[in-house]
Amino acid sequence: MTISFEGRVAIVTGAGGGLGRAYALELARRGAKVVVNDLGAACDGTGHSDAALNVVAEIEAAGGTAMSDGGSVTDADHMVAMVEKAKAAWGGVHILINNAGILRDKSFAKMEMADFRTVVDVHLIGSANATKAVWETMREQNYGRILMTSSSTGLYGNFGQANYAAAKLGLAGFARTLALEGQRNNVHVNTIAPTAATRMTQDIFPPELLERFRPETVAPAALFLVSEEAPTGAILGAGAGVVQAAYITLTRGVALDDATPESVAAQWEAITSRDRETVPQSGAEQAMTILQRLQGN
Ligand code: NAI
Repeated sequence: MTISFEGRVAIVTGAGGGLGRAYALELARRGAKVVVNDLGAACDGTGHSDAALNVVAEIEAAGGTAMSDGGSVTDADHMVAMVEKAKAAWGGVHILINNAGILRDKSFAKMEMADFRTVVDVHLIGSANATKAVWETMREQNYGRILMTSSSTGLYGNFGQANYAAAKLGLAGFARTLALEGQRNNVHVNTIAPTAATRMTQDIFPPELLERFRPETVAPAALFLVSEEAPTGAILGAGAGVVQAAYITLTRGVALDDATPESVAAQWEAITSRDRETVPQSGAEQAMTILQRLQGN
């Protein structure tokens, strides 16, 4: 089975370099018409360059079809205009990869709240802006594929990235709920937590691993998650050709007859035991498991 994007229109945010560029090139190579969005910012989100134009030129040189968009994902009106432009030119939008991102790393003790807000604004609100701009179109089309970009930092934590972690786990929660809301209209929403050697991670990758962790090695997982065959609500880790699935699990837990802080402490081992843990498919399913515990099941 060949996965083709022929006839599809895709928007990739932050596609002027790194992972977004790799996604845009591969989508175009497989037939999609691609909007290459990128502000062309530095890693901390400041400044502006023609990064998006360069990637469009690369796609066109390879025989593909693309248009550039130099706007910021933080500008909701601009995201609407970008989507309208793509629809006017190509008749619809079928794929959105929310990939744009910045870093303002510092331990929380030293972090200014302004840097917390800016990081949440670009990753979380920026992804919501772009998603809101395509959502109605995808519902009307009864077809849409959206990918959120989370991170191992969001899923599992990382020293010095409290702002980024908050935004990145927020995106996974956002995707899980949109997966439920989009299902009826064939709008699938998934999450990727990539690991790649880009300018964002250049200081932490040992030089001998740079080649192994090329952004192109993440693209296959990202492209599968926006293909017609894509699942919905999945969270994949991907790097260097290794693809993993992450789950938010729930232990069976314990129904405490006499719920006090002391009984929680006393039952800690049983409460946290991973024996027979589950993966609820919605918030309501967790509530159901509480009722089951109360009924002694
Ligand atoms: P990158 O810095 O090469 O790519 C991010 C792109 O987003 C840049 O081209 C930048 O100009 C653009 N951008 C920044 N602010 C923007 C805005 N307001 N509007 C539009 N574009 C904007 O870094 P990389 O590694 O390719 O990152 C891509 C995504 O993957 C980010 O969301 C990042 O947080 C995420 N990620 C990357 C990991 C890695 O190992 N490289 C690990 C986990 C997550």
